[in-house]
Amino acid sequence: MCGIVGVVSSTPCKTRLIDGLERLEYRGYDSAGVAILQPGVSGEIAKSVGAPRVLREQMVTLESETLENGTVGIGHTRWATHGGVTDKNAHPHQVGRITLVHNGVIENYVELKALLAEKHSESAGSIPHVFSSQTDSEVLSAFLNYLVSEEGFDMDTALQSLPSHIHGTYGLVVIDSEKPEEIWVARSGSPMIIGLGDESNYVASDALALNPYTENFIYLDEGEFAMLAPKSFQVFDAEGNAISKRVEKLPYVSENDGHNGYSSFMAKEIAEQPAVIGRLIRAHLSPSGLKDGSELVALRQKMLGAENIHIIACGTSFNAGLVAKYYFEKYLNIPTSVEIASEFRYRDVAIPPKTVFICVSQSGETADTLAALRKANEAGYQATISLCNVATSSMVRESQGSLMLQAGVEVGVASTKAFTTQLTAFLLLAFALSECEATKKLLLESLFRLPADCESVLNISDEIKDRAAPLFQESQSCLFLGRGEQAPIALEGALKLKELSYIHAEAYAAGELKHGPLALIDDVIPVVINAPGGALTEKLAANVEEVNARGGRFLVFSAPGVDVHSDNQVDIKMPELSLVTAAITYAIPLQMLSYHVTVLRGQNVDKPRNLAKSVTVE
Ligand code: F6R
Repeated sequence: MCGIVGVVSSTPCKTRLIDGLERLEYRGYDSAGVAILQPGVSGEIAKSVGAPRVLREQMVTLESETLENGTVGIGHTRWATHGGVTDKNAHPHQVGRITLVHNGVIENYVELKALLAEKHSESAGSIPHVFSSQTDSEVLSAFLNYLVSEEGFDMDTALQSLPSHIHGTYGLVVIDSEKPEEIWVARSGSPMIIGLGDESNYVASDALALNPYTENFIYLDEGEFAMLAPKSFQVFDAEGNAISKRVEKLPYVSENDGHNGYSSFMAKEIAEQPAVIGRLIRAHLSPSGLKDGSELVALRQKMLGAENIHIIACGTSFNAGLVAKYYFEKYLNIPTSVEIASEFRYRDVAIPPKTVFICVSQSGETADTLAALRKANEAGYQATISLCNVATSSMVRESQGSLMLQAGVEVGVASTKAFTTQLTAFLLLAFALSECEATKKLLLESLFRLPADCESVLNISDEIKDRAAPLFQESQSCLFLGRGEQAPIALEGALKLKELSYIHAEAYAAGELKHGPLALIDDVIPVVINAPGGALTEKLAANVEEVNARGGRFLVFSAPGVDVHSDNQVDIKMPELSLVTAAITYAIPLQMLSYHVTVLRGQNVDKPRNLAKSVTVE
C-alpha cells in the first residue's frame, strides 16, 4: 500500500530516492519522507504531507548538505493506517539508534508499547521514549531499538526474532546509526525486493521504483531478511542462515515512466485496452485454436475433471469474477461461486470435491486475496490458480498455476485495462476448457474481433464527454442497472464512478429494482443502463418502464437497433459489437464516463482520495 525505497551507495542518493518514491506514488500519496545519511558524518530526516513532489520541493528549501550529498537513504510514501495524515505520522520513524520505514500493520502495537514501558520501569536509569506519532511503525522502531540497544542484539538476530514478538505484517527497511554504511530489509506479509547495481544496492516495495537503475532483482520470500552495503549484500532465511538467492532479470520498461502524451495514466490505460487485449489473445490463440506454448495448456491439465470453480478477489477483480461465473456456467456448465477474499479468509469453508480455486488480482499482492490463496493452498482444492498482471507477484509465486494478464503496468489507481484483460483471460480459460466445438468456434471468432470492437468503442469518448458527463456534474447520487453479464458490469461502473468522482453510486441487477432501490427514483438521480441486446432486452425494457413511470431519468448505452425507450433519456449508441464479449466492450463506456465526470468535477483521475493502488494491508 505504502511505497518504500532504499539506496545504499558510494554517491549521493537523494535523486534516486525521491524519483523512486515518485514512481511508487500511486501506492499511497498522503505524505512522504526520507532519512539520508553521510556515513560517519551526519544524518537527517525530511518529511512532508502530500505527494513526494511536495517533499522534493521542500528539500530544496532546506539547503541541507546531508540531504543533498548523503549516500545512504531510505524513503517512504504513505497511505495512512494508524494515525492521521500529518508530518509526525509520516515515515521514517527514528527512535534511538533505529531509523525505519514500514509497510504493513503491527496489530499488537499497544501490547508492545506496554511491554517497552514495563522494561523501562524495571531498568534503573533508562529514559523511556516519548512517542511523537500515533503510528504502529514508531512503536516498531522503539521495539527494534530496545532489542539492539538494551538487549544487545545484532541487527540480524533482532530481525530474525521479530516474528516471535509481532502480530501483523511488515515490509521493513532499517538503518542502525551505529552501522550507517549498511541498510537492512525484512519481509513478513508485505513484499520487498532488492535491486543490485554497480557501487549501489537498492531495496523497494516494488521493482517499478528501481527499474531505471537496475535490471537485477532478488525477491525476498516470507520471513527472509537481508543486509545491503554499496558493494555487497547478504540474504538470510527465517532461521537466520545466510542463503544465496536467484537474481532475476527485469528489463527496463520505459512505458512505466509517464503517460506518453495522454493527460493521465487513466486516459492512457483506457486507450491501451485494444492493444493489450489483442496481445493477450494472440499469446494464446492462433486462428485455428490454442497455441502449443500457451500457459492455458498446463492450466487445462490442472482443471481437468473439475466439477466446481470457486473464485476469490477484491474490488474490481471481484467484479471480474462475477462475470466469469456467467462465462463458466454458460460455456462449460461448471457450477461457479464467487466470493470476496476478506470473507473467505476468515470463515469455515466447505469445499465440494473436485473444486478449483481461482484468485484474481491485478497486483498479485492484495493482502486479503493473498491470504485467501494461502488458505486455499492448505485446504485441499483440486488446484489453486491465479489470474494476475504481475509475473513476479506473491500470488503467481504461491499458486499452483497462473494465467498472466499481460496488460502492462497499470498505474492509475482505478483499474481499467486490468479489468478488461481479466475478463478476456476468463474467456480464454473457457475456450481452453471447452469440449464443445460450437462453443469453441463462437469464442474464437468473438475473441479475434474483440480488439477491433474495443477500438470502435473508444471512438465514442467525445460523445460521452459532451452528452453524458454533464448529467453528473452536480449529482450527489446515481444508480447503475444491468441484466445478465451486464449486472456485474453495472457494479463495476458504480465502483469506478464512486471511487473517482466521489458521487455516491449503487448498482443492482435490474430485476432487483422493485425490491427496494425503486424508492430512490426521482427526476434528479441519473440511472445508467447498458443495453447490448440479446435475450434479456425485453426484460430490461420492462425495468426501464418501471423507472420511467416514476419520472426517472436515464443514461443508456445501447446497441444499434436496441431501443429501451423512456421519456427522459440520453441514449448513446454503441457500435455493432459481438454479444459474446459485451461484458468487456460495455465496461469501456462506463470507464470513460467515470473519467469524464471526474475531469469535469476537477478531481484527480489517477489518484482518488483515501485510496492506494496495491492494497497490501487487510
Ligand atoms: C478499483 C480497484 C480496486 C482493486 C482491488 C483489488 O478500481 O482497482 O478495487 O481491484 O483493490 O486489487 P487487485 O486486483 O490488485 O487485487
